[in-house]
Amino acid sequence: MDLHLKDEVAVVTGAGKGIGLAITEALAREGVHVIAGSRSRTAELEALRIKYGVSVVLVDLSTRDGADTLVRRAVDERGRLGILVNNLGATDARTSFLDVDDGEWQRVFDLTFFSAVRASRAALPHLLEAPHAAIVNISSINARLPFPTVVDYSAAKAALTNLTKSLSEEFSPRGVRVNAIAPGPVRTPFWTAPGGLADVTAAAAGTTAQEAIDVVVPRSMGISTGRVTEPEEVADLALFLASPLAGNITGAEFTIDGGQIKTT
Ligand SMILES: NC(=O)c1ccc[n+]([C@@H]2O[C@H](COP(=O)([O-])OP(=O)(O)OC[C@H]3O[C@@H](n4cnc5c(N)ncnc54)[C@H](OP(=O)(O)O)[C@@H]3O)[C@@H](O)[C@H]2O)c1
Repeated sequence: MDLHLKDEVAVVTGAGKGIGLAITEALAREGVHVIAGSRSRTAELEALRIKYGVSVVLVDLSTRDGADTLVRRAVDERGRLGILVNNLGATDARTSFLDVDDGEWQRVFDLTFFSAVRASRAALPHLLEAPHAAIVNISSINARLPFPTVVDYSAAKAALTNLTKSLSEEFSPRGVRVNAIAPGPVRTPFWTAPGGLADVTAAAAGTTAQEAIDVVVPRSMGISTGRVTEPEEVADLALFLASPLAGNITGAEFTIDGGQIKTT
């Protein structure tokens, strides 16, 4: 399917690995000029720079001026911007709400919510000049299915999903569509890195990290398909939403969780 994305200009946040990396690669493969914001330079991102000419911008997007730096680089390099993917978001596993202090709430909101606020604010003046433009926010099922173990992250994702609607209301009449994707568990370093959630789950279940993510997580979380989502599957959805093929889709949230959420 031709997504009609060739020669578009896109900014992706948190692009060094996981879902952000998969979205960056998928966009680049479609002929999009991608400006990839990442805190650290990864071998995978470097490979995309060499293969597709992806621009890698090393930037801390939890800071006030990180998003401005990233968007300015896109506009300086390409003179325009048509797509913003707010992918960045992170948390640590919590034991109790009572153990999360103000500093941690602020850190998680800076990474997960304010990074998208700031990137959107920096990008929108340029997106409004594009013939058709799109913002895709990577939210989470935790926006609607809060877990006490990620209490702060769940609240930040709820705010991001809410922001998606407000931005769509204000800017889609002026040509910028704004949508959100809400994944369930996705096989990324967030889970698979040493000390990540797969290790935590494996320790609790008395098994290996591989078994934890392949069997324990799908079973214990009630994932109907019996498996977690792959980053490339989130990327496919993000590309469709960013493309003109989704031209009348805005203000919507798309769940990709293998049937984990049971309510209608
Ligand atoms: N994985 C899941 O199960 C899942 C489920 C639902 C939603 N999501 C959402 O999907 C998005 C991507 O998650 P993921 O699992 O792919 O994450 P990940 O594997 O942890 O990768 C996150 C990327 O963001 C970068 N990053 C972290 N802090 C940064 C900062 N301050 N400035 C710039 N870059 C920074 C990381 O760089 P470093 O290498 O420097 O850390 C890394 O490249 C997040 O919004 C997450 O909440 C994930």
